Order: sequence, then structure tokens, then C-alpha cells
Amino acid sequence: MFRFGVDYYPEHWPEERWPIDAKLMAEAGMNVVRLAEFAWSKMEPHDGSYDFEWLDRAISILSVNNIQVILGTPTASPPPWLMTQYPELFRVRDNGMRVTYGNRRTYCPNHPTYHAYTSRIVRAMAEHYAEHPSVIGWQIDNELGERCYCPVCQQAFQQWLHACYKSLDALNEAWGTIFWSHVYTDWRQIPVPALTGGSPNPGLALDFYRFCSDSYVAYQKMQVDLIRERAPQHFITHNFMGFRYDQINYFDLARDLDFVAWDSYPRMQWTFAKDVDPVDAALSADAMRGLKHQNFWMMEQQAGQGGWEMVSVAPRPGELRLWAYQSIAHGADGMIFFRWRTARFGTEQYWHGLLDHDGTPSRRYDEIKQMGAEIQRLGDTIHGAEVKPEVAMMMSYDSRFAFQIQQNNPQFTYPNHFDQFYRGLLHAGVTVDIVAPTDDLSRYRLVIVPAMYVTSQEAADNLRHFAQRGGVVAVTQRTGVKDEANRVVNQRLPGLLAELCGVEVEEYDSLPAEMQNCIEFTFPDLPTNPLTVGVWCDVLKPTSAGVVGRYTQDYYADKPAITMNTLGSGRVIYIGTMGDHIFYNVIAAWLIKQAGMLPLLTVPEGVEATERWQGDQRLLFVLNHSAQEQTLKLDAHYTDLLTSTLQNGTTRIGARDLLILTEAVEE
Ligand code: GLA
Ligand code: ZN
Repeated sequence: MFRFGVDYYPEHWPEERWPIDAKLMAEAGMNVVRLAEFAWSKMEPHDGSYDFEWLDRAISILSVNNIQVILGTPTASPPPWLMTQYPELFRVRDNGMRVTYGNRRTYCPNHPTYHAYTSRIVRAMAEHYAEHPSVIGWQIDNELGERCYCPVCQQAFQQWLHACYKSLDALNEAWGTIFWSHVYTDWRQIPVPALTGGSPNPGLALDFYRFCSDSYVAYQKMQVDLIRERAPQHFITHNFMGFRYDQINYFDLARDLDFVAWDSYPRMQWTFAKDVDPVDAALSADAMRGLKHQNFWMMEQQAGQGGWEMVSVAPRPGELRLWAYQSIAHGADGMIFFRWRTARFGTEQYWHGLLDHDGTPSRRYDEIKQMGAEIQRLGDTIHGAEVKPEVAMMMSYDSRFAFQIQQNNPQFTYPNHFDQFYRGLLHAGVTVDIVAPTDDLSRYRLVIVPAMYVTSQEAADNLRHFAQRGGVVAVTQRTGVKDEANRVVNQRLPGLLAELCGVEVEEYDSLPAEMQNCIEFTFPDLPTNPLTVGVWCDVLKPTSAGVVGRYTQDYYADKPAITMNTLGSGRVIYIGTMGDHIFYNVIAAWLIKQAGMLPLLTVPEGVEATERWQGDQRLLFVLNHSAQEQTLKLDAHYTDLLTSTLQNGTTRIGARDLLILTEAVEE
């Protein structure tokens, strides 16, 4: 069943209101709500005394309206009685300052006392709700994250290192602690890489980031185990933060969950002046689907203008529905809007829900109600339909973490570089999967490896097998630079991939914004005019690869910048430099062609096309993100499932509207 609903905080409103809320939800086609995820002080008002009666009453009012419930564990926001009793539970920031009470996500993920209190409340909830007929699943905590640098974490880090390296000799060797005389002779000497220590040893810092990620994975697992033991029939998920969040290895965090859920806010208060960027949401959705190679839920889909201190631009009519369908087009199998009613108090007073502060259903409610009716009709057709791209982009958290430690060039960030390439692929009209370095690649024709700075032997082998079986691989600059200990490899770059790429990096240049170079393509099917490049320039020496593009300027003019190596029917392209969106559009379109693929559909600027497959039935989503009506030419006869109309030849899509097309059956 396709679940459709809202994040609801009944504890913010008088009980007399609850039946009205439930009725309005049901009228909007809603069948699920998320409850309780910040309600610790209401469920455990005093140390060890629990009160679930209010929640039981809220759930029973919802169930009268056929609305089922996902319960959030409340651990993202511990109550004051707990934190005053144990101030050492507050996490410590990288600058050494301990967080004080006032917001949320204030706790240390490794503190045994926090674990004990967490277990108690989670166990109490799970015991109380395991058999409740309205409860279908759980969300652990809320948007886990934030590294902690406290003494408890330091000690846990030392133990983690001990378990990992076994001996101090091995650790000293791996980190190269001989540099600046950092040779450790006791595990207890090992620091955390706080800002107060200055630029850290890269090996230590990468291990610390891995450790912090593992800490949250373990903290979540503890909660998952408690619930699973008591309520094995319920699903368990967590609300992830999309592609941009990079303090936790999300592949690891997803492992213990039944499915991934995530939160999407295309218009946010801190991007106040900027316009909405649909590619950003698309990338997040594809990244979240890739975590388990499985469809996901939207746990928080934007329902109104955002706002803490600032109030963001109001979502334009049609946008909320369009964004929600965009999430669906990329694999959402459940849709929950944040939030039901705009809060009158608290930090998020201006984070708007479907109802206004005073409880009036807004135009946003009407828009989502329309969608609710559509989902009641189409939910079964959509639910479970697969997204099946033939292109994958490899995402490496080790590389992301390592670039957080050594950025290499102030104009470079891993997420932005990844995003640039992704945009090129979307522009070329294909759908994209996002995979981990050791994931199975057999279903793809093209695999992009953006700046895989830290390259493991397993990842290198994975790519080699893929290319040997006829796949096309494209590797970009700064791949293969580091080993897993975050040391520079002891061979010509791109290190473990040099042979596969058939190329060696003779030297490299790291450029400021004022310095640029150009490349000229020397290969068929590529533009003849030179393109500007910059930021990073690998000067290449092919060993077995052919040249695709050369630099035109500076002392490395004429030297190769892009090469292609052939392995049977497979090809490996090395792209040694970076460009603007035109560069990535050109490269992506060329790679798609190299891999023998065609665009899904030719669409005008501002229109996105993507597809899901329900068995043999193709669902082609055509989303008009622009504020103007658009026309497009269809390649076959289709039925639009939203309007039940036949579509062929030239068709129109209204501003911020969409079509869900399926091949028309011949009468
Ligand atoms: C996040 C959180 C929500 C809420 C929204 C809006 O996604 O999960 O609790 O704070 O942002 O700020
Ligand atoms: Zn800590």
C-alpha cells in the first residue's frame, strides 16, 4: 500500500482539536502519520516514570479515521531533567566547546549513561506499542549526526583503534607518526583531531571520522535491536538528510534498517534568495535509493515555507505536489509531509505545515489533498515500481571524509564535483544510480567514478571486472591518490587504477580561480571548439590509452588531459581536469554514446523525465519544474495516468505540473 500522510505533533495542540485534525487528514487521503519523535519529556516526564496515555488517545482518534502510525524514538531531544543530572552527556564540538541546553541533537553518541537512558525509553515504548494494531513501524531518532570530541569519545576512539590495528606498531606505521615525532607508545596518548590541535595527521583524522560514523551506526543499532526483539512485525527506518549530509557513512547507517527514509526541503531558509534547484533533490533521491538499492520513503517532504529565524520564499502553487511527485519519480514508496500544522511556539514557528498557525487549512492543504486523491487512485500502480538505471556513479565516504581533512584546492569539494557530473548525466537524459565502491556493477553499462581519492583494492578490482566484462568506466582527477590509511600511494597516480586507465599522472597543477587552462578534443563525436578547464590539471602520460583531449596552454600545452583505454569491448576514460557545466554536459553526452545508450525522452529546459518499472509496465514521469507551460514531442502513444487521457505527438504540460505516462495499449 502506498502510504501518504504527515508528521504530526498532537502534543502541541489541545486534545479537543485532535479529532478535527484526524478528520482533515482523512479527507486529504492520508493513511499514516509519524508521531512522538520529539516527545521524550511528555512520555517520560520524570526519571523512570512513563506516560503513554496521551499518545494512546491520539492514536485511537487517528485510527477511527483509518490512519496508522509510525513512532519516532525521541532520543534526538533529551529532556532537561536528564541533561541537568548528567551534564557530561552533552556532546563536545570540534572547537572543544561543550554544547549547552537549548536545541536538539545535543548528546554524545557514545556515552554509556545516554545509552542506558535511551534503552530504557525505547524499551518502554516498544513494549507498550509492540501489539498495538495502529502502529506499523518506527523511525529511530531524528537525522542522526554531528561528531563529538568529548573525553568519552576519545576513549572509545582509542578502543576502536585498538580493535582495528591490534598493535601500536601497526597504527604508527599506518599513520606515519614518525612525522613530527607523533609516535604513540600507549593507546591513551591518542588524541581526537580537535581544532585546538591544529591540522591533524590525515590518517588519524580519517580514522576518527570513520569512528564517529560507526558510533552513530552502533547507537542506532542498539535501538533497532530493542525494537526488533519486541515488535518483529514492524518496519524500522531512519530519516536521512539526502546527498549533502556527510558526517556519517550513510551506506553503513542504512544497513540495519528495513528501508531508508529521508527529508527533502527544496526551498530552505538558508537558501533564501536562491531559486529552487530540482537537480539537487534528484541527486539526493538517487543517493538515498542507492544506500540499499531499494525504494525509499519520504519521511519529511516540504509542506510549506521553511523558517527558523528567517522566513523563506513561499512554495509557489503546484510546487509542493510537483516536488512530492519528483521524489516518487525517483523511487519514493511512501510520502509524509513535514508538518501537519504550523507551530505557534518553539524554534520552528515559521516552518510552515499544511495548516496555518491558527489551524486553517491553507492552499497548501488543498494542493496536497488533490494529490491524496490521485494517490488513492494510482498508489498501487506506483508502489514498488523499480527505478532501473544503466548508469551508476560511485560514491566513496572514505574519499568524502578525506577531502574534508585535505581539501586539495579551495574551489574543490567532493559533493560539488559529484553534483557537477550528475548534472551532466541528467542533462544527457538518463537515470542514475548511486553506488558504493564495492557494490555489484553488473547491471550497468556506464560507471562514473568522481574523485575517488581513497581507493581500496576491492574497489579497484570491482572496476576492473566491470570494464573487462565490457563496461565503460570514467574516472576523474584525484582518484587513486590515497590508500585506506590516508597515505599517498607509493606508485604513479592514479595508483591502483593506473594500469586499468592505461595512463600515468606525470604531474599535477592546482589552480586558483584567476588561472585557467583550455582543452581541445582530439576525438570523434566531441566538439571542435576548445573548452575552459581549471581548478585541477593532471598532466597525463598514456601507457596504453589513447588521447581524447589535450591542454592548449601553459607549460603543459599539448599534453593529454583526457584519455581512453580499451579493454576488449570495455573502455576506461580518465578525465584529469575540471570544467564548468558545459564541459560536463559534453563529456556526459559523449560517455552515454560510448556506452551505447539513448536519452529517455528529449525534453525542453526545465523539464525532467525519469522512469519506474512496475513489472513490464513503464511509468514515465515528465515533470515541468518551470513556471511556464511547456510542450514536448512524444515518441509513442501514451496514456497519462493522472488525467486518464491519451497523449501522442506534441503534448503540453502546465507550469509546475507533471504527466505520468504509460505506453498506451492498442485497442
Ligand atoms: C529536519 C527535521 C525536522 C525539522 C525540519 C525543519 O528535517 O527532521 O524535525 O526540524 O528539518 O527544520
Ligand atoms: Zn562524546
